[in-house]
Amino acid sequence: MKSAEEGAAPGVTAPDPILRLEGLAKSFQGQRVLHGLDIAIGRGEFVTLLGPSGCGKTTTLNLVAGLLAADEGSIRLRGAVVNDVPPQRRRLGMVFQSYALFPHMTVAENIAYGLEVQRMPSRDIAHRVGAMLDLVRLPGVERKFPSQLSGGMQQRVALARALVTEPDLLLLDEPLSNLDAALRREMQQEIKRIQTALGVATLLVTHSQEEALTMSDRIAVMRGGRIERLGTPLEVWRDPRTRFVCTFLGDATVLEAVSDGTAFVAGPLHLTPASSAPAADTRRTLAFRPEHVRLDPPADAPNAALGLVREASFRGAHVACLLDCEGLAIQAVLPADPGGRLPQPGTPHRFAIPPDAVMLLDD
Ligand SMILES: Nc1ncnc2c1ncn2[C@@H]1O[C@H](COP(=O)(O)OP(=O)(O)OP(=O)(O)O)[C@@H](O)[C@H]1O
Ligand SMILES: [Mg+2]
Repeated sequence: MKSAEEGAAPGVTAPDPILRLEGLAKSFQGQRVLHGLDIAIGRGEFVTLLGPSGCGKTTTLNLVAGLLAADEGSIRLRGAVVNDVPPQRRRLGMVFQSYALFPHMTVAENIAYGLEVQRMPSRDIAHRVGAMLDLVRLPGVERKFPSQLSGGMQQRVALARALVTEPDLLLLDEPLSNLDAALRREMQQEIKRIQTALGVATLLVTHSQEEALTMSDRIAVMRGGRIERLGTPLEVWRDPRTRFVCTFLGDATVLEAVSDGTAFVAGPLHLTPASSAPAADTRRTLAFRPEHVRLDPPADAPNAALGLVREASFRGAHVACLLDCEGLAIQAVLPADPGGRLPQPGTPHRFAIPPDAVMLLDD
């Protein structure tokens, strides 16, 4: 738990965060599902809760929204504890997985809803609704009903509805999971564009690594009701710190190794990390990503060994290889050279792992 807060990134220590959760805990039927969560989100910051199904992402979001009550810990919005403030008075925007638009209301009525509740004059409402529809790039659909719109359009309306009241915190729970892959990518960019344009702090929940990596300023990787790693996409990708975070974020070869004083040794592999030389007899879990493995490296490349190609499959943009290094299975992803031949199964190849690609993990 402590490691998540080490090297605190912007927003954790920010003097004036929009949202700060401290020691947030929640149980259902005596079963702990959140174990004292700590996180803060700065103004305009985009933070993602990333983790596998059941790790407590939606529960966290629902506690922030006020749809659930916390057992322990505090929720501060704009500095004030809001544990007992009802949802409609927390001044948040929310978008959930199911679009949850009112089916019997037109698009304009859906978007206007939050402003009607605030009793804004109708001329101002019409103006704001029009501006929101321009922002989400859906002009001219005011009079349509949700059922007349595609999934992507409905999600844009839901976003417009969440943002029309100009909240300074937007909560998004898997807002794109009902969309097909191409539309999901388009909407990721759209949400990011709108979020940046408005400067609205955003807390996104997803189990998609790609979504988290492309959209976030910081990612909180959750596991079993705890934040296991918190940092920028680059930080968590390059230095995941635990085996779980490393393999949840992407493919990796993970090895148990013992130091001989200059390198970590795992079978025939001698790996020197970019960081200082390990003390002799240190046991560590090491990992490296397939795209960092070099095939047929220069003769003087560090961290080189000989492997036998077991599989090589052409994937268009790249070639995925499985190398056997005296019983160690090494995954490699190679750029597909124009006109180049695929490595042939059964042939020996030297390979190397650049020192700065060697990740040291705690178990
Ligand atoms: N109302 C509830 N009653 C009982 N248990 C619940 C309730 N809501 C959630 N849980 C349990 O709490 C845990 C966390 O659930 P939560 O919905 O927060 O997970 P999640 O990370 O959002 O998962 P997913 O990716 O599947 O949406 C799960 O084990 C879930 O079964
Ligand atoms: Mg969920």
